[in-house]
Amino acid sequence: MKIVISHSIKTFLEHYTYLMGKAVKQLICRTPIVLGKIGNRASPLLAEVVSPRPIPVGTYATVETSYEDPYSGDAKKLCLVGVISSTSFRRSVPVSGIALITSGELHEEFEGELGKYSQSYLRFFAAITHDMKVTIPRIPPPPDASVYLAPTEVLSTLFSSRNPSSIPVGHLLGRPDVRVFVDVNALAKHLFITGTTGSGKSNTIAILVDRIAAMGGLAIVYDVHGEYSGLLAQEADVREVELAINPLKIPPHVLAKMVVPEGTATVQRRLVSRALRQCRDTFAKVIEHYGLTEEGVKKLQDVFRRSTRLHQEFVEPVEEADLDETAVKLFVECLVNAINSVKSGVSDKSIESAITKVEEFFEHARISFVQPSVTELARPGTILVLNASSLDDEQRDYMLKVIADEFLWSGKSSSVRGSPMPLLFVVEEAHLFLSANRPSVSRPSIERLAREGRKFGICLALVSQRPRNIDLNTISQVQNFVVMKLVQESDQRAVMNASDLLTEDLVTSLATLATGEALLIGEWIGRFPALVKIDKHPGKRSGTTPDIVAIWREFLSRKARERTDLEMHKEVLHELKEILGDEP
Ligand SMILES: Nc1ncnc2c1ncn2[C@@H]1O[C@H](COP(=O)(O)OP(=O)(O)OP(=O)(O)O)[C@@H](O)[C@H]1O
Ligand SMILES: [Mg+2]
Repeated sequence: MKIVISHSIKTFLEHYTYLMGKAVKQLICRTPIVLGKIGNRASPLLAEVVSPRPIPVGTYATVETSYEDPYSGDAKKLCLVGVISSTSFRRSVPVSGIALITSGELHEEFEGELGKYSQSYLRFFAAITHDMKVTIPRIPPPPDASVYLAPTEVLSTLFSSRNPSSIPVGHLLGRPDVRVFVDVNALAKHLFITGTTGSGKSNTIAILVDRIAAMGGLAIVYDVHGEYSGLLAQEADVREVELAINPLKIPPHVLAKMVVPEGTATVQRRLVSRALRQCRDTFAKVIEHYGLTEEGVKKLQDVFRRSTRLHQEFVEPVEEADLDETAVKLFVECLVNAINSVKSGVSDKSIESAITKVEEFFEHARISFVQPSVTELARPGTILVLNASSLDDEQRDYMLKVIADEFLWSGKSSSVRGSPMPLLFVVEEAHLFLSANRPSVSRPSIERLAREGRKFGICLALVSQRPRNIDLNTISQVQNFVVMKLVQESDQRAVMNASDLLTEDLVTSLATLATGEALLIGEWIGRFPALVKIDKHPGKRSGTTPDIVAIWREFLSRKARERTDLEMHKEVLHELKEILGDEP
């Protein structure tokens, strides 16, 4: 017995079959909204749709079809699900009687008599069988079949499947009724987020890290421009660290490359590296024993009291707040002495240049002996924002290398200990570090993280507005994508090369996306690409596009106010003068 229940628009989309008293929900393919009909050309993956008006790109549609199974001979019903990937509006051109008239030559008197129609393309990505199994479409729809606006239920089956490892990120484009969930476990195969500036990449990251941390996850953001500064998480703890270089936590040879980045200056770099090793040993011993306390710093001062170049200021007692700064000055002093003490085999010029490099570096970079290592700060259920905005490009590159190595090493060792600590590591402005044209220090470390991280639960999320500048080797490890508005063809092509799920028509539709709208592809979204309006993160204040004209207007009106105040002031003075005469 089959009973059809229909009481609201939503339940219209469902019906229930009662089998031996048990309700089995079935999906139907139709809605009351018919978008058009299948035209002349149709294949299992792409069909022409003819309609009186254009159907917006990104509209989800269904077509009912049936076929005869060649093996069993059984008739089978299918619901094909697809998305409109391109659309055009045309005029029907008469071909009888007179010669073919192209629309450009059309005489005005024909206007109105001639029909207009729209031709769109519907890209099928799923076929749902009568028993709700989701398969790849293998049958084309018949010509003239009706094309329906896809029912909520059908789309929810494909995009809203919830399991303990999924989080919501937004809703289907044009369908606020269909929430879109992504599978966090699939992020082990990494993520690439791209789109032009202001398209909504960092907002997407804010949504992801907030919801992942709310699951008890650890999300780390390498924040190049301080975009996440002051992030107010909705559901998780946020820890923001202004990145500084701790000479005790960075291997001397890596720090030496930061101090002397020039490739050819090998002698200077060797001098600096040796000095760093010597001073690091001394400082590590003292700081480990006393901490960065007044006593510890005094001890360091004692060590260097005998130093020939020691300035007077170092032997004066230090305030608690200045301890770190004083320790850094002492460290520089130690390095200079160590470099100076090299007696043979090195020219005075090399020694002098190495000392200048050390002094310049430690004067400009943010150095701190109290900066903990990033793995010490990493805690489950937290968003750790590593603000690298006060470092210069080279320092950011080296810091990223150090941090990526540290996370991979700690991921490996915690897995070996049997207490793995999965994490999402987000690298903003990834084109700076993974450039296709320019070598970088951090690139091998990021590539290693992409290659080996998966086994230890380290998920990498690379964010970039310039996919054409990114080295495809790293991207080849990435299996999940968020592609936002992309206008330049070279960028679109780069993304297409990176994912075989991206077809040409889908890629060209990327230029029409608005802020916050994205194409999600990869295992994390299931088998089918989804056009999604990402939720707006209410707690991300930095990175918002400023209202430039409003700022200028405010400046003008402030100036006008100041001018009026000044004039009033002058008037009052003038009146006072008149009343008081020339009396002082
Ligand atoms: N899903 C969304 N819904 C509404 N507004 C959004 C959405 N995503 C981003 N925005 C708004 O768009 C602006 C830019 O967003 P965002 O900073 O995320 O862009 P971006 O792609 O990271 O830019 P950039 O490449 O310059 O860093 C912000 O004002 C943000 O509030
Ligand atoms: Mg951004």
